[in-house]
Amino acid sequence: MQYKTIDELLKSEPTHHEIIVRGWVRSFRSNRFIALNDGSTIKTLQCVVDFENFEEELLKKVTVGAAIEVSGLLVESQGQGQTVEIQVSKLTVLGEANPEEVKLTILSPKRHSLETLREQAHLRIRTNTFGAVMRTRSKLAFAVHEYFQKNGFNYMHTPIITGSDAEGAGEMFRVSALDAKNPPLDENGNVNYKEDFFEKETNLTVSGQLEAETYAMALGKVYTFGPTFRAENSNTSRHLAEFWMIEPEVAFNDLDANMDLAEDFIKYVVNYALENCADDLEFLENRLLEEEKNKPQDERSEMKLREKLKFILENNFKRVSYTEAIDILKRSKPNQKKKFKYIIEEWGADLQSEHERFLVEKHFKSPVILFDYPATIKAFYMRLNDDGKTVRAMDVLFPGIGEIVGGSQREERYDVLKQKMEAMDISTEELYWYLDLRKFGSAVHSGFGLGFERLVQFTTGMGNIRDVIPYPRTPGNAEF
Ligand code: 4AD
Ligand code: MG
Repeated sequence: MQYKTIDELLKSEPTHHEIIVRGWVRSFRSNRFIALNDGSTIKTLQCVVDFENFEEELLKKVTVGAAIEVSGLLVESQGQGQTVEIQVSKLTVLGEANPEEVKLTILSPKRHSLETLREQAHLRIRTNTFGAVMRTRSKLAFAVHEYFQKNGFNYMHTPIITGSDAEGAGEMFRVSALDAKNPPLDENGNVNYKEDFFEKETNLTVSGQLEAETYAMALGKVYTFGPTFRAENSNTSRHLAEFWMIEPEVAFNDLDANMDLAEDFIKYVVNYALENCADDLEFLENRLLEEEKNKPQDERSEMKLREKLKFILENNFKRVSYTEAIDILKRSKPNQKKKFKYIIEEWGADLQSEHERFLVEKHFKSPVILFDYPATIKAFYMRLNDDGKTVRAMDVLFPGIGEIVGGSQREERYDVLKQKMEAMDISTEELYWYLDLRKFGSAVHSGFGLGFERLVQFTTGMGNIRDVIPYPRTPGNAEF
């Protein structure tokens, strides 16, 4: 007796051997055909039951969502759509699923919106859509490691609890072991964190970059891939309070090399998904086509999902300076006709997602890397250009997503960095170790951060970031 996954069985020849399969019932037609899924593939295995040979009471328990084990011969399928099926000789119901309750989530996923399924996050993974998304997510995560490991990068685990604010944006979740009802106070009446667990204020990390820089300046090439946390009150389809970020950091790389790395890396992982998630991407592509049928013609995408992914692979990302981008935006129709919510008036303006999407989706019709942003709208650690007003920053902008990568060449000059930190009110005391790095063998180095969920969103075509992470954390929601 062999135990194999449904994915393996569907790829095999009809062996006419006895096998055992376990999974969850997707449908049971005519008291004869069970469609069984075990999560190994989006496909189901047809299990043919001669109902005359089974107890009626037993067959009644074969309902959608029930866990069952069947054994029987693997034979050629008489039906269409599969080459093999199993002739069931033994059937055991491992776990029943009450049909009345199950209906709500998995019986007819099409009839339930993604929003409703979000409230059933422990069960939504039983739907085809979430199965396809999460299998693809897993493959993408593997591809991330494969890319960096093949290219000589060291995987580095950066701390999750930190004392610093890597982005200097103040969007942190505090970590404290103090009694919230009765915290110790200092002489000014403020909470005295010297009496807290770490004897200082600590928070969940917003980025592993600063620590990754210290390791890059010893190991050469490093990358992180871990959870990051932001207490920004953004209720959008692209923001999470807890998300996974990939942050490569490379000694001696300048901004051009950084852009090359970002482009090469993204192409590698997207290609990996195309090659290794064919069935799931086909399903997701059709799902998207269905969804778009309800939209007006001009809101439908010009390319199907897999065409969009191939387009990314086959075309160079357009590299455009911030200054050029502002010129394009100023002259653009939506700006002239005041269709943008935020009108671009002058150089120095921060770009909103409407502007980024205009550049990518309407103007260039390709992924865009914007670089050399005004120093005033970017983080303290970015290298100042000789013009004294722009920094060596880069953002990779993607169709449908907007910013997928943010990165920069880092300020490697001690005095310049110190001045910038002081001007931007970043504590040089707190970050003494980061400044120290500029005293001992400092050199040009660069890196970037890619939001993993935004990559999964792009690859799977899902419109809302909450639907590409198992248990989304957003303002007002930490259920499960
Ligand atoms: O642009 P960000 O804030 O850059 C950094 O954190 C740098 N320290 C990265 C580096 O240079 N090592 O964030 C990087 C990326 C964004 O481009 C976006 O894809 C994603 O992280 N991101 C989010 N994804 C989901 N939800 C959020 N709230 C996100 N904030 C950023
Ligand atoms: Mg950014």
